[in-house]
Amino acid sequence: MLKLSERMLMAAKMVRSGKIAADIGTDHAYLPAWLVLNNICPSALACDVRKGPLDNARKTVELYGIENKITLRLSDGFDEISPDEAQDFIMCGMGGTLMEELVSRTHWLKDESKRLIVQPQSHSEDIRRFFVRNGFEILFEDACTDGGKLYCAMAAEYTGKIIKKPISYIYSGELSKCRKPEARLMLENTASRLKTKLDAAKNHGTAEDAEYLEKVITELEATINEMQTDG
Ligand SMILES: C[S@@+](CC[C@H](N)C(=O)[O-])C[C@H]1O[C@@H](n2cnc3c(N)ncnc32)[C@H](O)[C@@H]1O
Repeated sequence: MLKLSERMLMAAKMVRSGKIAADIGTDHAYLPAWLVLNNICPSALACDVRKGPLDNARKTVELYGIENKITLRLSDGFDEISPDEAQDFIMCGMGGTLMEELVSRTHWLKDESKRLIVQPQSHSEDIRRFFVRNGFEILFEDACTDGGKLYCAMAAEYTGKIIKKPISYIYSGELSKCRKPEARLMLENTASRLKTKLDAAKNHGTAEDAEYLEKVITELEATINEMQTDG
């Protein structure tokens, strides 16, 4: 049976049962294959911008004999996907900046029936900022360790309501409500990264940048102090 890495499993568990999923940047198509093999999704799309990864995906699909359940698609982001082809859209292992770019140019994702599941490899604040500014609600986040590295993933849905959040929210999101020690560790690492940026801003940046970072760090540290973790 196909076994997913902890990182991908964390994102796969956010897919709603019975929905058709589309995995953007699928590479080996492990995630959509796992979703159909475990009867979570009746079918799925495995999409990638490059032919090489799609060839990897084809091998996985053939190995597990799920050709009738997985559609392979060469697509830059969501460009070659029709809005009615899937309900849950997953992006794993890409940077948050690229995720933001791909989602922001796909206006049909602003649909209350659709769910976006993202596992940013870096710059998670970019995709959170996009969600917050564009009427998407981050429903929940999760964190895990995989191969000695920390990862987070989140599920978001469009509501059309733009709710004012604290300035540090783009760094903490709903991770602050996750009770796993990994979530707290991720936020501590983020605070320490921001402190390094603050030092740089104090030395060579503008007073405005330094003031902004100071506020974010103060808020973030308060959030971390209030977090309740299991174990
Ligand atoms: C680091 S791999 C991640 C693979 C898998 N999702 C995972 O989490 O292990 C990134 C994949 O995204 C694909 N990719 C990069 N930019 C893309 C884009 N604009 N549209 C679709 N796929 C893209 C790459 O070709 C590559 O296969």
